[in-house]
Amino acid sequence: MVEPVPSAEVSQAVPHLRLGVLISGSGTNLQAIIDACECGRLQAAEIALVVSNVAGAAGLQRALKHRLPAIYLPWREREESEQRLADLLELFRVDLVVLAGWMRILSADFLARFPRRVINLHPALLPDDPSANVYIASDGSVIPAFRGLHAVRQALEAGVRVTGSTVHYVTPAVDAGPVLCRAEVPIQEGDSEETLHERIKAVEHSLVIEAIERWRARELSGLRQSGHSGGGPSQAD
Ligand code: GRF
Repeated sequence: MVEPVPSAEVSQAVPHLRLGVLISGSGTNLQAIIDACECGRLQAAEIALVVSNVAGAAGLQRALKHRLPAIYLPWREREESEQRLADLLELFRVDLVVLAGWMRILSADFLARFPRRVINLHPALLPDDPSANVYIASDGSVIPAFRGLHAVRQALEAGVRVTGSTVHYVTPAVDAGPVLCRAEVPIQEGDSEETLHERIKAVEHSLVIEAIERWRARELSGLRQSGHSGGGPSQAD
């Protein structure tokens, strides 16, 4: 339980980075972002909006428990759903959109409304060169770039010794945008898809915070200069 901050202190500690977090499932990475905002590890940042395309996603309950604006957005026809999503993100003046277990592909038209402002967590090691199909791990091993839905399973089936997670900018090419940061996770003997994914997620919980900080350092001032109207304290403050 977080103690309420006296109003005099709130005005001095105005949150400047407004995050939109998109989820479809358990939301443990969302929880990591919530915790980082609340404990001050992620300073001058707030979650402005959580969106789930799955009504029963546990991540929605996490958001509500922390009294964050959270919306279930049924995903039917893509163009219309994307239009609604983009309108919501603009309405809530989101600076950066974080895909944290979001299971819908976003079109080039949607991404054009948020240039360099959407990042994704992917549970595998992706190379810097988006056209490359392998990644060289720190132990020198050459690992296929496991893109798409079953990256954890593919790493196990390929028999590689190491896998990990990558946070990258989202571009129309799936899991192939410029890399912000990544972390390696060794595969242990006897790992199942579940045990391996749990260890990857444990690493992601720090990685996603690092990625948000890197994004802010690289992009936020340019975004403000370009006239983007997000940021600053929420109107509810
Ligand atoms: C993460 O492993 C992320 O890399 C992938 O989906 C998973 C989401 O986990 N895209 P959670 O919902 O944050 O627990």
